[in-house]
Amino acid sequence: MPSAERHNLVISTRNPNKVQEIQAILTDIPVKLITLADFPDAPEVIEDKETLDENASKKAQVLFAHTGIATMADDTGLEVMALHGAPGVHSARYAGTNPTQADNRAHLIEQLKGIDDRRAQFRTSIAFTTASGTYLFEGICKGRILSKERGDGGFGYDSLFVPDGFEDSFAEMNAEDKNAISHRGRALKRFASYLTGLLASNE
Ligand code: IMP
Repeated sequence: MPSAERHNLVISTRNPNKVQEIQAILTDIPVKLITLADFPDAPEVIEDKETLDENASKKAQVLFAHTGIATMADDTGLEVMALHGAPGVHSARYAGTNPTQADNRAHLIEQLKGIDDRRAQFRTSIAFTTASGTYLFEGICKGRILSKERGDGGFGYDSLFVPDGFEDSFAEMNAEDKNAISHRGRALKRFASYLTGLLASNE
């Protein structure tokens, strides 16, 4: 990162859950997080690409072009083996146009009715854009899909997903336990160690 902006990092989200999670993982790194909420004029990005990497890159690049400040963006998808990787990059709109999260979960339960193979994984792609280009960091969490929702915590597909090695669904875990093993947590840790190295090499 150029020295004048080395402590600033724009994150392409307004979602307070994500901001908190990113803050917690980057806590020891000397960067100041600035969120999309601080850029009310930032252009709306349509997530119309065919891969998580491309969508994350598009979001980071558009916001970097607008702010001129190093920017990170993430995109996440739930990939179900028996559905050949669906809903994947289409996870946010699995049940149609402007669905609620509950609509998406109901659609997933329906699609998997009578199917024994419940294997699935969450995948997160983080894109980091500076004047030097865009770098990608991936995190995967493997698990299985329940036939009924369990738990009140979390968001999205959490109440239908049990990570490998656990009995609780993501929606039954506290945020700290989920973040320690989650797709986004893993991608963020990779990004954090890259940032640490980058800042050390600029000192
Ligand atoms: P986004 O990339 O964070 O916008 O997420 C795309 C879709 O995946 C949305 O439907 C989210 O609700 C869902 N999603 C993203 N992250 C998680 C998660 O950690 N747990 C459950 N669902 C998630």
